[in-house]
Amino acid sequence: MEVKTIMIVGAGFMGAGIAQVGAEVGYQIILNDVSEDAVQRGLGTVTKNLTKNVQKGKLTEDEKSATLARISTTTSLEAAKDADLVIEAVFENADLKKAIFQQLDEICKPDCIFASNTSSIPISQLAAAVKRPDKFIGMHFFSPVPVMKLVELIRGIKTSQETLVTVEEVAAKMKKETVRVKDVPGFLVNRINNALRQEAYKCLEEGVASVQDIDKALKLGLRHPMGPFELADFVGLDVGLNIVKTLYDGYKDPKWRPSLILEQLVLAGDLGRKSGKGWYDYTSGEMKPRTDVEF
Ligand SMILES: NC(=O)c1ccc[n+]([C@@H]2O[C@H](COP(=O)([O-])OP(=O)(O)OC[C@H]3O[C@@H](n4cnc5c(N)ncnc54)[C@H](O)[C@@H]3O)[C@@H](O)[C@H]2O)c1
Repeated sequence: MEVKTIMIVGAGFMGAGIAQVGAEVGYQIILNDVSEDAVQRGLGTVTKNLTKNVQKGKLTEDEKSATLARISTTTSLEAAKDADLVIEAVFENADLKKAIFQQLDEICKPDCIFASNTSSIPISQLAAAVKRPDKFIGMHFFSPVPVMKLVELIRGIKTSQETLVTVEEVAAKMKKETVRVKDVPGFLVNRINNALRQEAYKCLEEGVASVQDIDKALKLGLRHPMGPFELADFVGLDVGLNIVKTLYDGYKDPKWRPSLILEQLVLAGDLGRKSGKGWYDYTSGEMKPRTDVEF
């Protein structure tokens, strides 16, 4: 099946990014969210990114206008009747995602493919909510979507080969690289990255080295662009805690037990960059070691 029109449900951080990369390569995009405010915010993000690209000389004004003209916005799911592919990027909540796909199942053409950008919910669980589980797949983009090259394609137990190949072609057209991944907790990147992060937390708890020195060691010793603590602050400690809880529940293996310090920081409302404090202190506008708590 040739995909021409893609509906993106959820115009937040990820949805806006996916809308941008889709429209840039010629797909007709229908961008959906619950309120006019939310869709306009999403479209505003795309416009801002494209304007920056024009300023940097990566894009012409005409190309920017043509890209934006390929994005229509709506607060109704009914517009999905014209879509060949729906990519869902709403809040990370299984019941919400299932309810949306159940509605889409009634609205969409029988051959329309459903993809979820979930970072942790099993694809087979979401696919069980619809009458087309063979046409359901995980399309896990990374943030920021216009920059990050990877899309993990997660095959649920009933996902067909045809669905996988069609979505692989869409991702390639969006200039993304793909990897095929089984539907296991954490998929591939989050599973491996969290194994490393768990070990970093353990080293801190055992007093092996400080937050700063663990980050420094991995940056200078392994050429990681950010250390595990710096990255955890960037992503959000609440988001990280949810991911490791998913891994712990999924594998029933103590190696995924959430760090007690991490849990305490989240309970205290120190969620990383977004709240001003996490593993580091950002309240001065710069990243500084914390002096108000001892890890
Ligand atoms: N942020 C990341 O780094 C990242 C990376 C990979 C995957 N994800 C996944 O992508 C999804 C979205 O994450 P995000 O960071 O873009 O979140 P976000 O909070 O920025 O955006 C979510 C959007 O969904 C909208 N929404 C909520 N209910 C809706 C509904 N019923 N219909 C339509 N829209 C609705 C919200 O209004 C909001 O605009 C989540 O499943 C998340 O796990 C996030």
